[in-house]
Amino acid sequence: MLLAVFNLAGTFYVTDDTCTHGPGSLSQGEIDGDIVECDFHAGCFHIPTGRVESPPCMIPVQTYAVHIIDGQVCIEREPRPLAKQA
Ligand code: FES
Repeated sequence: MLLAVFNLAGTFYVTDDTCTHGPGSLSQGEIDGDIVECDFHAGCFHIPTGRVESPPCMIPVQTYAVHIIDGQVCIEREPRPLAKQA
């Protein structure tokens, strides 16, 4: 499993790296505020929650709780529940 680690103004967030729409890599996407744009078809996700922000994505991306311990980013093994779409 590949994960994408985001540092937004000093707060770390982790999502699955693979886009829920296809083979895009979220860690290779463009970040605008707390939104990441997939590098493949430009669908967007809200990084903290994983909810879809724009099509063609329809399914939220999985997110993981993060803890900073002794300066290291530690990621919980089990993903958070998927974000609910509005
Ligand atoms: S693969 Fe990410 S938007 Fe299509």
